[in-house]
Order: sequence, then structure tokens, then C-alpha cells
Amino acid sequence: MIAKPTIPAPLDRPGSQIGKPVSRVDGRLKVTGGAKYAAEFNTPGLAHGYIVSSAIARGRILAIDTAKALALPGVFQVFTHENRPSLPWFDRKWKDDDAPKGSPFRPLYDATIHHALQPIALVVAESFELARYAARLIHVTYEADDHRTDLRAAKADAFTPGKDKGGFQPPPKPRGDADTALAEAEVSVDLNFSQAVEHHNPMEMHASTVIYHNDGSLTVHDKTQGPINSQTYVCNVFNLATDAVRVISPFVGGAFGSGLRPQHQLFMAVLAATTLKRSVRVELTRPQMFSFGHRPETLQRVALGAKKDGTLTAVIHEAVQETSQTENYVEVVVNWSGQQYKCDNVRLDYKLARLDTHTPLDQRAPGAAIGVPALEIAMDELAAKLGMDPLELRLKNYTEVDPNTDKPFSSKELRACFQQGAERFGWHKRSHAPRSMREGRQLVGWGMATGVWDAMQGQAVASARLGIDGTLTVGSATADIGPGTYTAMTQIAADILGLPIEKVSFQLGDTNLPMAPLQGGSWTVSSVGSAVKAVCDRLRDRLAGLAAGLNDGPLKGLKADELTFADGFLIAKSDPSWRLSITEVMRANDLLVLEDEARSIPYYKSQMKHALGTHSAIFAEVRVDEDLGTVQVTRVVSAVAAGRIINPKTARSQILGAVVWGIGMALEEESMIDQRLGRFMNHDFGEYHIPVNADVHDIDVIFVEEHDDIVNPLGAKGVGEIGIVGVPAAIANAIYHATGKRLCDLPITLDKILGA
Ligand code: MOS
Repeated sequence: MIAKPTIPAPLDRPGSQIGKPVSRVDGRLKVTGGAKYAAEFNTPGLAHGYIVSSAIARGRILAIDTAKALALPGVFQVFTHENRPSLPWFDRKWKDDDAPKGSPFRPLYDATIHHALQPIALVVAESFELARYAARLIHVTYEADDHRTDLRAAKADAFTPGKDKGGFQPPPKPRGDADTALAEAEVSVDLNFSQAVEHHNPMEMHASTVIYHNDGSLTVHDKTQGPINSQTYVCNVFNLATDAVRVISPFVGGAFGSGLRPQHQLFMAVLAATTLKRSVRVELTRPQMFSFGHRPETLQRVALGAKKDGTLTAVIHEAVQETSQTENYVEVVVNWSGQQYKCDNVRLDYKLARLDTHTPLDQRAPGAAIGVPALEIAMDELAAKLGMDPLELRLKNYTEVDPNTDKPFSSKELRACFQQGAERFGWHKRSHAPRSMREGRQLVGWGMATGVWDAMQGQAVASARLGIDGTLTVGSATADIGPGTYTAMTQIAADILGLPIEKVSFQLGDTNLPMAPLQGGSWTVSSVGSAVKAVCDRLRDRLAGLAAGLNDGPLKGLKADELTFADGFLIAKSDPSWRLSITEVMRANDLLVLEDEARSIPYYKSQMKHALGTHSAIFAEVRVDEDLGTVQVTRVVSAVAAGRIINPKTARSQILGAVVWGIGMALEEESMIDQRLGRFMNHDFGEYHIPVNADVHDIDVIFVEEHDDIVNPLGAKGVGEIGIVGVPAAIANAIYHATGKRLCDLPITLDKILGA
């Protein structure tokens, strides 16, 4: 099954589909309502579940009276910890592909309340409205314990987490003596940072529609970033055979990490369907979207020391991040600070503090979106103290190797990002002094920052089926949460076999398809795309062999590398008039279909010798109203180095969306806890502010040329997360330039600007 194509298809030839701004192949379905989401699949007799959420943050349920709800005609059942069926005891049965170390949350397991809005009951009725009404008739008596949801109060008990889940690397050991170097530095800065909890807030709320079949098997329509992850979870928790559970998830209305772990509505819907032996849907309400994982609140300190010429002599970065009482959710927050710049004295420290909240959850560029802005704001402050241009300071300390590991980067075109981004923005026209670019009562400020994210790859398998009519269907059980996976995979397949885009379709979001990892970490193009390339390279080899074997054919004896694949033809490079269509080759060989499957495995050996990452330079302009403290981000230029860009149109959309989120993170987004209740107060779009059209102005995206043969066979690093990473810092730095105020607590709301 391991693909070893003799002649991989070259990707940079003229006419290549790769690199073309192809419009989304699923765009029409999406804008016409033809794309179906988890809560839109229907079946006769479908029952509807409504989740009852805990009113307290910590304690236990003493009594739960469901009699009134059950008495309503049309209510089928109310599930609680008291009447739930038997469930597994071992933690490992509840683990999923994104579970951190610890004990995963188990819905309806017992009377214990771990966090506010914890799901404590499920009402199942003939309609959603009836289930919701019945839920209000349920009376719960609690015994509340004191809760702790304040990270500042919990900070004193912070601890260093051990190594655990795949992606997490603890900070590297200190190098040199950063504290002494800081004390002796000619110029130094020492800043404290905080950033609020953010929720993912995808447009589509989490939902699962479980179709119950007479033989007890299930078809599960789930909102997920990994159908196989949901399938494994359901099979483990409910003790079902893999072939009795098929998870289908063709479209996801945004997720940003919220679908990396199976959410409790999936558990609830399967519980009800298997117990009641009928089809059930459970969909969360918008307020309930604040009842599970979130980007964790983090408290940070960054201290930098430098010589007068800007040479960094000390980097200290410390972070304390929240986790739950039951799991050690960890992110790589501080490690980037040892990687970004050349410096001999570096000390990085990362700790967790336990709160009575749900376990946090990966959210777009987890860790980097928090830690890198802290470093980049500190660099801006250092530049200000040195009287140096912030871009010059970064170039002064630029590094071609990863100082954490001394490994060279497989590629790092960050210099090109700086140059092209600065030129597009007009950075050289910036006046150095804060408050020097005023226009009337508007203070204009220009700021910049660097972004970084890992380039990762996992194993994946893809299948392909080529018909005699020249249509190709490729599939892999990945997801498309919005980045354009359908389109990019279609392009890769069409390119390698020389087929028009319209002749190729890509299938995903179905556990009947070959294995793919979770869609996350910006690794789908590298992982699944490499598998698609591998299987199409195999088909190409086989077609070439079939054509060469036709003794009376024009391509007799030619090798695969002596052929071009274009417009459905195999064409001799030596004389393009010697050609056969795919149909002719297959007909002559009595074949109606040609099928194959291939697994792509990362180039571990060469990857291990290198640091792999995407990089970016962000330039931002703000206008701050001096009287009102309001901020408009009037211009952003994001220059990105992410290897080969498969589709510049969808990739640009990724960066645009991420910049918008960066504006939100810098200025607006904040899930606020009422510490007395231990509960998020602003749990809807009325009070949780995200950027709207009026907040979004000019955003310019540049992809710089970057060639990389090590990162994966496509040379494509992925762009799902890099777009957000430096944005909050560039905006905070622009606000400093506009106002002279150094603000380090995100979001920077107008009260902070006026109050500072
Ligand atoms: Mo992303 S946070 O890896 O879905």
C-alpha cells in the first residue's frame, strides 16, 4: 500500500493546475443551500434533544426532578446521570485524537459539577421546541462548592506540566544566563501581558444527527474536524463495532479548533439513539457554544535585554495558562521566543493553573497566537527604547537556524516577507516618534510584527478511481472546515493526471473513506495532499505502463517520464502528435476502471534534521480617536512565506479571515467571566464582540516565493493558522505608535486606551 512512484509528477510546469486561483469547487453548493450541515439531515420520525446546562460552576447535583417534563405528551425521555446506561470507567475509552493528558469530561457520568453550563440532562421529544420547553420544567437541586475561575488568583498554584500529547513540546532548557544578562543589559524592557478567553464562535453551532438503523447500526452526521475521531470515540464510549458506526460530515460551517474533539452533543445524540432505538438530533444553542473548550486565558511576562546597537543579549518569556481540574491542556506558548531571534541567553517557562472551567481547546494557531504577540510587542518596546526602527531591530537579530535546536530551517523566506510587506505598506515613510502622524483628532499609528507557525505533516491515505470516460474520483476521510480542501485536493489530482478540473471530484468527511488525520494544525494540504499526490502518481505510472505495453500503439516502450499528461491524453514529449487518450489506453487494455490507494508518510529522516515553519510579516495602520479612544484598523499588509501555494485564491481567503480574527483578538474578543458565578456572561453575538464589516478595511495579502523540498512532496506548508499569529501585536504596536501608550492586555478596548 505504500506508494513509491517511480516518476513523481513535476508540479511547476506550464499549465499546471497547482498554483491557479481556482474558485471553490463546492462554492455553488454552499451559496445555493445545497451543502448540507450536521443539523440539516432529516429522516422520518426524527426525535430532537435539548441539553440542560448546570447553573453552578462546582459542586454536585443533590436531586433532579424530571417528572413534569416527562409528563408532557411528546416527550420521550429525559436522560440524566441517574438513568443513563452503563458507560466505560477507564479514561482511555473516553480519549480522542486531541485529548490532552488527564481524565476527559464524561457527560451525565455522575452528580459532580466541574464547570458552569456543564450538560446535566438531555430531554428528547418529538420537536426541538417541545424538548426546550420541557427542559425548563426540570428542577435541579444543587450543593454548590466554592469555585475558582480567576486565573490571577490561581496563579500562585501554577505547576509545570509534563510532556504529553503529540504536538506539545515543553520549553527547551535555558541557554546561557538570561537573568544575569538582563540585569547587565545596556537597554532592557520587562512587560507583563494578559489576553482574554476567546470562544471559537463558528457560524454553525455544534450538532449531531444520529440515524438509527433497524440492525442497531448508526449513521452519524456530526460537526467535526475528523470523522474518524468521532467514530472512534462513539465506538469506544458506547462499545460499538467500527462497522456499526459511519460518521458523515461533508460540510462544516467553521470550527477553528472547536471540532477537534468530539463535543458533548455527539455523546448525547448517540446515547439517546441507542437507548431509545430511534433517530435523534442534538444541536447546541448559541449560549451553549460557550459550554465547552475555549482559547485559554494566559498571563505572560517577556523581558528582553540588548546592546545599544540592538543585538539581543537576553530573552525571558514566562507564561501561566489556565487548564481544567481534570485535564492538562497544554500549548506551545513560549518556545517561539527562543526560536525567532538569535540570542545566547534565553530562559523560557511555561506553567498551568487549574480552574473550575471546561478544559480549554485548540483555537486557530493555539499557543502561537498568544505567545508570539507578547514577544513581538516586547520587541517593539525595545525598538522604541533603542530609538531603532522596529523592522531594523528584527533584521539585526535575524536567524537562519532555529536557535532552540541549532537545526537549519528547511526554508525561511521571512526576509522576503519583511521586504515585500514593508514596500507594499510604505513602511519607510514612517516617522519614528509616537504621536507624530496625527490627522486632526485622529492619531495615526504604524506598527509591525512577525508571525510564525510550525509546518507539520501526518500520515494519510487516499483512494482514487479513474473511469474509462476520464473522470476521476479521489477520496480521503479528512474534513473541510472552510479552507477549501475540496478545491485544493481536486487541483492536485487534476494536475497530476492532466485532467480538466471538471472531470475530477474529491470526497471527504466520511469514515468509509481511507484514513486521514484531524483537519487542524495547518497540516491538511501537507498530509492529505501528499496522499492524493501519491495515489495519482501511482495511477499515472500504471497508465503509462499500460500505454507503453500496447505494441501497435504510438507510445510503445515509452517510460512515464517520457510522457506528458494533459487534457485527458498521454503525450510523447519527443513528438506531441504521438498521443493516446486515457479512454483509448483503458479500452485497449479492457479496463473500465483503474483503482488504487496510497499512503503518504512524512520524510521523517530529512524533516528531523530541520526546523519546519511558516513565517509572516504584518504591517498595520490604525487611527485612534483621541477623544473617544476608538480604534480603526485602516490598513493591514500580511506577507506570508508558506512554501508552495496550491490555490492563491482560497489561501488568500485564509489569510484575510485570520487577519480579521487578529483584529478581533487585538480589539474586541473577550469571553468575560462573572467570578461570583464562575460563568461566561457574554455568551451570544450581541455581547461577545467580533469584527463586523465596519471594523474591517484594507487587507493586502502577499505570498512570497518559497521553495521547499523537505517539508513534503508538494512543498506546501499550509496557511490555516499563520495568518493570525502576528496580527494582534502589529495592531498593539500601531496603537503605541499612534498614542504613545504601551498596552499589553488584549483586547485593547477603548477604556484601556483612555485610561492608560
Ligand atoms: Mo486548528 S486550532 O488546528 O483547528
